[in-house]
Amino acid sequence: MARPAILIARAVFPEVEHKLRQHFEVEAAPPGVVWSPSQLVERLQGKVGVLTTGGERIDAALLAACPQLKIVANLAVGFNNFDLPAMTAAGVLGTNAPDVLTETTADFGFALLMATARRVTESEHFLRAGQWKEWSLDLFAGAEVHGSTLGILGMGRIGQAIARRGALGFGMQVIYHNRSRLEPDKEAACQARYVGKDALFEQADHLVLVLPYTPAAHHTVGAAELARMKPTATLVNIARGGIVDENALVAALRERRIAAAGLDVFEGEPTVNPALLTVPNVVLTPHIASATIPTRTAMATLAADNLIAFLTEGRALTPLNPQVISA
Ligand code: DGY
Repeated sequence: MARPAILIARAVFPEVEHKLRQHFEVEAAPPGVVWSPSQLVERLQGKVGVLTTGGERIDAALLAACPQLKIVANLAVGFNNFDLPAMTAAGVLGTNAPDVLTETTADFGFALLMATARRVTESEHFLRAGQWKEWSLDLFAGAEVHGSTLGILGMGRIGQAIARRGALGFGMQVIYHNRSRLEPDKEAACQARYVGKDALFEQADHLVLVLPYTPAAHHTVGAAELARMKPTATLVNIARGGIVDENALVAALRERRIAAAGLDVFEGEPTVNPALLTVPNVVLTPHIASATIPTRTAMATLAADNLIAFLTEGRALTPLNPQVISA
């Protein structure tokens, strides 16, 4: 009997591709190749499964053009690239990759917070440009991290892991806002206090965004929210670019209405708003919060395991629309 055919939409590590080749006929994007939406549809013809990275939009038009598709396995925890209702209506299972990246992503959130507050990249550029002529008392003086107030917007697994780092490692007072308040034992474990959204913006010395992107979360941080922040505050976004109105952020950074920002995600990534590149008090990184080899391997392996479990046994490890399986 012919083996099911699947597509790997962007290159994964060889061991993950090898694992999939044990079960399926595999077509894989070569390293460095990113297919356009129409090329993706073309490659998907005859495929029952696809491993995606989070950068491939799976919507009603794609599903209509790929009627044989049964499962889309994202190797990211975020799945804002999925039109999940359209997938469910088409009987296509979606899976994501939660948990395996939590601690690594929290590490990076903290690294970006530190780099932003302590002006690490700005001062390095200054040094590399040969501008360092003498030591002075206020040279690249930044904001205090230990003992300050850490605000977290979006208190899922990654938010809680960042809170633990702040409270237990840096003696920070942790406040958070989330759609729903955590259970008391979870709040206690990360020593975090629930506050209203306005209070979060007003009280945080360092505010980290970790909420999932949905259309309703678009520009959660705009001019009004930035205006609530302290002029000494830093803002860190490791969630999704669309959460922040980048033009409003650029204006706030230029006018020093907030001190600094650290961004790992962008509204039009991989294109970066050119205005951001002209602002010195922002640290910019290319969506690498989960990027360690062990974690990226675990993410890709979980996506592969979802493809294998569903296409060989009719079950999935981390389904997003499990009603498709029961149907
Ligand atoms: C995720 O897993 O959602 C990360 O942002 C990588 O895309």
